[in-house]
Amino acid sequence: MLEQIEKIRSQARAQLDQVKDLQSLEQWRVRYLSRKGEVLALLKLLGTLSAADRPAAGQKANQLKAELTAAFDQRQAALNQTARPAGPGTDVTLPGDCPRLGREHLISQATSELCEIFGRMGFDIAEGPEVEDEFHNFVALNIPPAHPARDPLDNFYIDVQRLLRSQTSTVQIRAMERQAPPVRVIAPGRTYRPDTVDATHSFMFHQIEGLCVDEGVSMVDLKSCLNQFVHAYYGPQVRTRFRPSFFPFTEPSAEMDIHWAPGGGQARWMELGGCGMVDPAVFEAVGYDPQRYTGFAFGFGIERILMPKYGIPDIRLLYEGDVRFLSQW
Ligand code: DAH
Repeated sequence: MLEQIEKIRSQARAQLDQVKDLQSLEQWRVRYLSRKGEVLALLKLLGTLSAADRPAAGQKANQLKAELTAAFDQRQAALNQTARPAGPGTDVTLPGDCPRLGREHLISQATSELCEIFGRMGFDIAEGPEVEDEFHNFVALNIPPAHPARDPLDNFYIDVQRLLRSQTSTVQIRAMERQAPPVRVIAPGRTYRPDTVDATHSFMFHQIEGLCVDEGVSMVDLKSCLNQFVHAYYGPQVRTRFRPSFFPFTEPSAEMDIHWAPGGGQARWMELGGCGMVDPAVFEAVGYDPQRYTGFAFGFGIERILMPKYGIPDIRLLYEGDVRFLSQW
């Protein structure tokens, strides 16, 4: 037995010296160290030895196994080194690769800032689906079937009853369906209209909707709330103006403008969006008592809010995903 061990040792050693690549190393491993290899066969033979011979033979056989395993590991490491493709080795003294850190998109940053400003005035955030039904997008908002806003060519209909919401005013309805007054929510989110894309239009853009309902809410509350927002977002020097307007879901309705100097130049009036006192028909649609409650609502385009502030001349820049542009903020 001891002779046999020595024979396998010298044979294995000699063969391992001949191994020049990983493939023949694997063949060597299978021959000597695998489950069907010669070393294991040797160990199995130990059981047939007499009790007197077994300990010495067992020790030698186990030594052989450890020795060949170590030799195999060494050889494998050496071959792996040389198997690397030609070229410079790893220089551990070089600075590491720094992964580029992402950041929130400017629209998301602005949305957070708006939520924060209105949050300070007690508004919660409300959400609603982007795929809406006609009831929430039109009917409950007092928009009659013949209204031009319902023209199928001016909306992204998905089937006869559902469309991509064309305004976040849908979330006013959803918020009022969910809870009884008082309500004070804002709803930022995506809206969709099949507009031809140009510097100020896109088929998808973002709006932020606001709704405040309680007993005794008046137009004074509407104007002071929106003035506070403008002063917090643009600065206390910026003036506002409310122009009479019309929306089916508010009465009276207004457009709010800000007096803004683009790029520090000559100040001019810029429209931010619509607002007004909630029309009693809207309260009726959601089961609120219009005798008891009044409220105000507003809806602004988020891109329109942020573009003058950051001096962005073209809305498309916000969607193209050009990191050189986006990483400025
Ligand atoms: N939903 C209107 C739009 O998309 C904007 C709007 C106007 C929202 C008046 C309001 C509002 O809540 O009171 O053009």
